Amino acid sequence: MAQCGFKVIGVDISAAALRIAEKRAEEAHVKVEWRRGNVLKLPIDDESIDFVTDRGLFHLIEDADRPRYASELFRVLKNRGCVLIRGASAESAPDRFNPITEEALKRFFSAFKFKRGPVLPVPLFSVEGALDARIVMLKKTGPKKLRI
Ligand SMILES: C[S@@+](CC[C@H](N)C(=O)[O-])C[C@H]1O[C@@H](n2cnc3c(N)ncnc32)[C@H](O)[C@@H]1O
Repeated sequence: MAQCGFKVIGVDISAAALRIAEKRAEEAHVKVEWRRGNVLKLPIDDESIDFVTDRGLFHLIEDADRPRYASELFRVLKNRGCVLIRGASAESAPDRFNPITEEALKRFFSAFKFKRGPVLPVPLFSVEGALDARIVMLKKTGPKKLRI
């Protein structure tokens, strides 16, 4: 996204992951602002972000923390902002990941004003190879949460 000219903030809880990302950005000659932080308490101002892309994080979040995850995305997104989530399917590696399913999205995002697209199959590439994954887009459709 930085290569396309967008202003990008990259967040990860791991300093080591941020170092790898920083090196890749340098190699690609792009500017990214890196912030170390927890997705459950994002180091990002309210309603300041147009687009969030999550590649391989939501499937690491336990159910107990997923309401907070959805709440943080809702908080940082501008109205009509979008979030793209990519992560493991229910079939791919249930012992390692908490999958992305229609049921999980309905359960954890319906408390907020999000319009949701379909959950579609997609390969997710990493150093370990291709993971059978799912992709879904959600759009914030109002400034206020519905409940909680
Ligand atoms: C599968 S990796 C994906 C990394 C990167 N997004 C990518 O696409 O290459 C998952 C990343 O989520 C980070 N992570 C795990 N829990 C987190 C949390 N609560 N807040 C922020 N980052 C977290 C890990 O440190 C790890 O770098």
